[in-house]
Formats: sequence, structure tokens, C-alpha cells
Amino acid sequence: MSAGLTQAAYIVAALFFILSLAGLSKQESAKYGNYYGIAGMSIALVATIFGPESQGFVWIIIAMAIGGTIGIHYAKKVEMTEMPELVAILHSFVGLAAILVGYNSYLDAPKAATHAEHIIHLVEVFLGVFIGAVTFTGSVVAFGKLRGLVSSSPLNLPHKHKMNLAAVIVSAWLLTRFVEADGSLLALFVMTLIALAFGYHLVASIGGADMPVVVSMLNSYSGWAAAAAGFMLANDLLIVTGALVGSSGAILSYIMCKAMNRSFVSVIAGGFGQEVLVSSDVVHGEHRESSADEVAELLKNSKSVIITPGYGMAVAQAQYPVHEITEKLRAKGVNVRFGIHPVAGRLPGHMNVLLAEAKVPYDIVLEMDEINDDFEETDTVLVIGANDTVNPAAQEDPASPIAGMPVLEVWNAKNVIVFKRSMNTGYAGVQNPLFFKENTQMLFGDAKESVDAISKAL
Ligand code: TAP
Repeated sequence: MSAGLTQAAYIVAALFFILSLAGLSKQESAKYGNYYGIAGMSIALVATIFGPESQGFVWIIIAMAIGGTIGIHYAKKVEMTEMPELVAILHSFVGLAAILVGYNSYLDAPKAATHAEHIIHLVEVFLGVFIGAVTFTGSVVAFGKLRGLVSSSPLNLPHKHKMNLAAVIVSAWLLTRFVEADGSLLALFVMTLIALAFGYHLVASIGGADMPVVVSMLNSYSGWAAAAAGFMLANDLLIVTGALVGSSGAILSYIMCKAMNRSFVSVIAGGFGQEVLVSSDVVHGEHRESSADEVAELLKNSKSVIITPGYGMAVAQAQYPVHEITEKLRAKGVNVRFGIHPVAGRLPGHMNVLLAEAKVPYDIVLEMDEINDDFEETDTVLVIGANDTVNPAAQEDPASPIAGMPVLEVWNAKNVIVFKRSMNTGYAGVQNPLFFKENTQMLFGDAKESVDAISKAL
């Protein structure tokens, strides 16, 4: 394939990627967004493999066959609830690839025509390896936290912000050494170690409740790492794609921070500027329990019902019976709606995807801001496997790790039924005073079994 044809194919692929992002931004068009992405990536792969820069065709095919087989195996096996972990570990691969491309480009430097080009190449290598290393260890820690292998509470080392600042300043100094010494391997190597530790520390310092922002922030970093690799390889499409992923990830992180009332700068700087307050985190009181039959009776006598699902609905795969009871209640003239918190579950849009899968109509699925004022006029709220997203401590306890995070104000309704298996805390590890409120009753058990039982009773 000629260089001109490869470039033309790259432009077409880049257009497909832009169409893909546009499609993915709406639930109704998300499927087409995926198709555009697949088409763009297929064109990109063909153009790169058969392009003028590629050699060792057989090796590429063998590597793709091995990688593709592993990828397909895991993609088929992965549960919806494990998606964030998969995404986090895939980000770590991008980081690792950027490190390897950086070292390769350093050892096998292209013949630069001018001194300026040589300097630019050295800076590209250094920055590419730095971003890649931060992305790599940061993503591995995020994977560990999401999988429960690493504690979700923030690591609070003494002088943690000073350590982060020192890592950045020393790395900047090493960059000048690297360039002045015409590419000192020692400077590059020391910086790599510092960046690996920096990435680990940055993400380990962020608490469980801020993990959604961390995942999208790492998504952004992985984009910039890919763009950096694109510069080193002089591959325009990799630069464009990396920049698209980097900027869309940054925008998503910003939107999430706004939704969760968090400072964007504070989160990306490993919790910088957040005061560490000590919450008593002990909630006293007695909880009341209910049964499926009692809840069915309560629902039959309600005029308006709001369902607020959370991570537990995903674990139990309760979305299908939830749709069933929604239809039964609507047939009896009950006004049933859903209230979706922006970070409910473990993925952006997690609850929307599950409800769409179960064919719940879009028009009764409302965002938190659209429905939060309506709880006061609601007879019954069903909190199905949600915890942090309905926790009044976010408003009532300034020392709580989730203080300031907007939550679904379910406690304002006349009756609240909480579906969960125990009195355990949610992802952020914070006690929930909702469970002890006068108007709250607990329905213990697996959410799917409980909703199935209610459906039968209805
Ligand atoms: P969580 O606070 O995680 O609580 C989920 C609840 O579901 C748990 O208290 C658990 O209680 C219950 N549960 C688990 N399995 C269940 C089952 N089979 N049947 C019934 N209940 C079950 O959920 P949430 O309100 O959706 O909040 C999400 C949290 O995850 C937030 O802290 C958010 O910041 C964080 N997070 C979100 C994302 C994104 S992007 N959405 C990404 C990473 C982290 P039991 O164990 O007692 O059953």
C-alpha cells in the first residue's frame, strides 16, 4: 500500500472514530457508535499492516492472533459488573505499550535531519515514557481497587502532596538532563521508576467514592499516552485517536466531578486540597424489616412509586423482574418512575444500560436532578441494591468521605424500602443513616429473589 493511500485510509478511519464518539454520546445511537468504531479500527489496522512502514507481516499476524484470542476469551467471559476492572486493566496495557514504544524509539532513534528534530524526538520519548508509566501503575492500582484486591480507602502517607510535587519537579529536571546529555539512558531510567511510583501513589491516594472519576481520568491519560506513542512513531492516526480519547476522557472526568461536587484538580492530583476529617461513622438506631408480601401490599396502595437502582441490582441481575413489577404496577394505574444517580453502579450509565437491556421505557427513566424534588410527593421508593447514592450522610455529616456528593433524597418519600442482603456498607465504606430512619424498612435478601417474590405477590 502506498504512503498516500495509507494516509487517505487514516483520514477515513479518523472520521469513523469521530462518528463513533458522536454515536456513543446517546443511548439510542450507542450501538451505531460501536459499529463506526469497529469500522474505523478495521480500516486503521489494514492500512497500518499493509502500509509502507510495516515489516514482518507474519510476526504481526501471529501477535494479533494471540492477542485477539486472549481478548475475545476475556470479553466473552466478563460480567457486566466487572467491566470497570476490564477497562482499567486495558488502560494499563496502553500505558505499558507507550513505555515500550518509548524505549524502542530511544534505542532505535530515527535519523534526524536537523538538531531541532533530534531534540524534539528526545522530548517525545521522555514525555511518552512518563505519561505511559503513570498510566500503567495508576491503572493497575485502579484495577486492584475495583476488584477489591487493594483497599478502596485512600492511602494517606505523610506529606503525600509534597511527594507528588517532588516527583514532578525531579522528572522535569531529569528531562533537562536527558536532553542536555544527548539522551542519557540513566536519566530516562530513573524518571521511569519515579513515574511508576508517582502513578501508583496518585491513584492509591484517591478514596473509593471518587473511583468513577479516576477510571475516566485514566482513560484520558491512556489517550495521551497513545498520542505520545503516535508522535514517536510518526503515526498521524495514533496521534488523532489518542487526542480524541484523551480529550473525551478529560471532559467525562470533568462532568463526573461536577455531578459529584468534587474539585477536578483535587481529584486528578490525588486528593490535593481535601481536608482529612475524622467521621464518627457510627450510626446508632434500630432498623425495621419487611417482607415481600408486605411490600407488594404497600405498592398496590401507592399512587406514585420511584425505583432507585444501584450496584446491587447489577450483581443480582434484577433488572428483568424489576421491569416486570414496573409493568404490573403501571397496568394498575400506579405512576412508576426510575431515579438514576450519575455514579450508580460501577460504570458511567451502568443502570441505564441494564434498564434498557430489560426494555424499561426510556421516558420513565429520569436523571437525579430531574427527579430529586419529586420524592416529597412520592408514596413509596424502592431502593434496589443502592447504598452510597442514597446516603443522607453526604448532606448531614461534613466529615463523611462522601460529604458534599449530591445524592438521591429518597428519605423525603412517605415509605422507603431498601433491598439488600445485610447491613453492610456500600462501595465508599460509609455507614448509611437511611436504614435507621422512621419511614425506612429493609427487605433483606438477593435483590432478584426479593423482586421476583414481590412480582408473584402482585
Ligand atoms: P453501592 O454503594 O456500591 O452499594 C451497593 C449495595 O448493593 C451494597 O450495599 C450491597 O449490600 C448491595 N448488594 C450487592 N449485591 C446485592 C444483591 N445480590 N442483592 C441485593 N443487594 C446487593 O452502590 P451504589 O449506590 O450504586 O453506589 C455506587 C458506588 O460505586 C459509589 O460509591 C460510586 O462512587 C462507586 N463507583 C461508581 C462507579 C461508576 S462510574 N458508576 C465506578 C467506580 C465506583 P449487601 O452487601 O448488604 O447486599
